[in-house]
Amino acid sequence: MPFIDLSSIQFSSGPGGLSVAHLRCPHGSATVALHGGHVLEYTPKDQRPVLWLSDSAVFAPGKAIRGGIPVCWPWFGPHPENSEMPAHGFARNALWEVQMTHRTENTSSITLGLCDSDETRALWPYPFELTIAITLARSLTVALSAKNTGDADIVCSAALHSYFAISDISNIAITGLEGTAFRDQLDEDRIKSEQTPITFDREIDRVYRDTKAECIIDDSGWERKLHIAKSGSRSTVVWNPWIAKAARMADFGDDEYREMVCVETTNADDDTVTIAPGKTHVLTTELSASAG
Ligand code: BG6
Repeated sequence: MPFIDLSSIQFSSGPGGLSVAHLRCPHGSATVALHGGHVLEYTPKDQRPVLWLSDSAVFAPGKAIRGGIPVCWPWFGPHPENSEMPAHGFARNALWEVQMTHRTENTSSITLGLCDSDETRALWPYPFELTIAITLARSLTVALSAKNTGDADIVCSAALHSYFAISDISNIAITGLEGTAFRDQLDEDRIKSEQTPITFDREIDRVYRDTKAECIIDDSGWERKLHIAKSGSRSTVVWNPWIAKAARMADFGDDEYREMVCVETTNADDDTVTIAPGKTHVLTTELSASAG
């Protein structure tokens, strides 16, 4: 049983009455909803927020939150066999429990857990223990650990579906994926690659394959770079809905596509993970900001 010390982290009733934890340290702040194990906010000291949250986001039990870092698990995107199932799995819609908090002079962290229940087994018939450890220091590290507590292999895809705040979509370029093959979800799943940094003048929805690369969002408008490092992942998803899809989404403002971009640390496509009985897979993303 881990040492439980809840005194170092403040809890409150957040948007929609959802319980949230407030992490503070000398290097910044972060806010985490127990609903979804969801990071809502990360702000390095004296900087703008790194994560984007929609003004139209819905904060209610059972609903996914638009923005921050939704946890997509145990499947990413549509369910592989059954289109009736919720997109991106059930972890982002479930209530997680606090397992541990920890505070040092320079860091603040919280670990939340979710395990199988009648509700999860109705959607996915396997036993599991999921934890998400969120550590605020000079960077924000989010580590999703999936343990197979059953006696047969489980197969999962996943995403730490990070939404980043940007000055304007026309001001950014994403580096790190030049020359990497991607599946274009908007062009009949064709496999393509580009040699140049990613810029945006239309909807983009791509699964980059076989990449462990750090990505950088270079935002010339705010003169800052957002760094997205990762481990336990060989795929990265880049998404911006642009005008028509933004208009179709009820929890997304019509013009908000200009102020966000998703660079998602994933296990997607042929990066699906098989976890043997008793074993754990850890998917980690580390976010930081620098001037430039
Ligand atoms: C991205 C997908 O990861 O998530 C997109 O590649 C999808 O196709 C987007 O539209 C948002 O998904 P949702 O279920 O949160 O609306």
